[in-house]
Amino acid sequence: MELTRKHSFHGELTVPGDKSISHRGIMFGAISNGLTEVTNFLQGADCLSTIACFRQLGIEIENDGSRVLVHGKGLHGLKGSEQVLDVGNSGTTLRLISGILAGQSFQSTLNGDASIRKRPMKRIFKPLSEMGARFQCWDAMHFPEHPAKSSSDCAPFTIQGGSLRHIHYQSPIASAQVKSSILLAGLYADGITRVTEPVLSRNHTELMLAGFGANIVSTETTAAVWPEPVLEGQSICVPGDISSAAYFIALGLISPNSEFLIQNVGVNPTRSGILRAALAMGGNLTLLNERTVSGEPVADILVKSSSLHGIVVEGELIPTLIDELPVIAVMAAFAEGETVIKDAQELKVKESDRIASVTENLTAMGADALPAWDGMIIRGGRAIHGARIHTYGDHRIAMAFAVAGLNADGVTSFDEEQCVAVSYPSFYEDINKLLA
Ligand code: S3P
Repeated sequence: MELTRKHSFHGELTVPGDKSISHRGIMFGAISNGLTEVTNFLQGADCLSTIACFRQLGIEIENDGSRVLVHGKGLHGLKGSEQVLDVGNSGTTLRLISGILAGQSFQSTLNGDASIRKRPMKRIFKPLSEMGARFQCWDAMHFPEHPAKSSSDCAPFTIQGGSLRHIHYQSPIASAQVKSSILLAGLYADGITRVTEPVLSRNHTELMLAGFGANIVSTETTAAVWPEPVLEGQSICVPGDISSAAYFIALGLISPNSEFLIQNVGVNPTRSGILRAALAMGGNLTLLNERTVSGEPVADILVKSSSLHGIVVEGELIPTLIDELPVIAVMAAFAEGETVIKDAQELKVKESDRIASVTENLTAMGADALPAWDGMIIRGGRAIHGARIHTYGDHRIAMAFAVAGLNADGVTSFDEEQCVAVSYPSFYEDINKLLA
């Protein structure tokens, strides 16, 4: 695929359902009693991996391409699978399902693609082991034909669940995947399980589990869950994914003569740091029709072309825009002055090392972008030209650099551009809709 500069984007757009909320709808539905209906479910590869894993664990799940029906079997209704559970590219599936599997009396083995096999799992092994689960990692080279033990902290691994002790875990990282994994294991523990984070991460698990009937309380950066709740199936309407809307927010702000409305976007404050960052950069964004849907704040976002300037992105803001940092870095290259991104070392352990993949591709396009150990520094204002983008199979790198390519001189091309299907299968079609 090749992209060249386009002059203006107009109209209206609805982005697909939120990835984090779609995963949780399936998982929490599976361990609840009766039927859970998930509408506007994200039909991206990651969430389809979650469906496949829970089907393998004995849950009937109907998927008509938009609405998903999960026939839940209650907290203790999952069945062990002889086959390896394949999470594909999805870190959320792997880390959250591990919390649930920690509370089951059977053994499960989990694996995923080449990217997932490099992602750190010690962050969940440590707390879940403290609770009583046991883990064995396998050498990926010889797996599964010749299983050889490995001392790595990555997939593939086997988890032996069982009766769990409650803990109060002081998490060294602000990670909703870690927090959620422990809270889900806490449903099976012998007392109240608590997780304290250094900075609050996205709270979809806390909001949605409460909606299913769990006793779960959040106080500042601590979440506490009571064990053995009776969870009842729910109707969940998934809002549009702000992480997907972020590419269009950036596109509208940096492209001249553009104005469009992105409808039905989830704007939960633990996720909407992109709005705060874009406004601080001088972006012309307006939230319209603010409402609450399935316990989550939702709005329509009006985006207009803007002259942007550099900012510092750091501290408590980071977990609220962690997945949006690649496209914020692209915006920074089109802004006047310097943008500093710090406290974001988590970028190194995402689907690619995003400090390296972002700065390498920005540099290839002529931008002034320097990597740092916990982020990057981008000095805007240089002419940006087309280049060959190395996506590293990372959906967020492909989409962030599509936004850059649509505003660059000359041609931008990509390797593995189809990796966008992980979270946004209709991404390229949706760009064309705003050009029509
Ligand atoms: C997610 C949490 C974030 C995010 C990921 C989805 C979730 O990861 O990057 O895309 O659904 O809980 P961390 O919690 O590890 O930061």
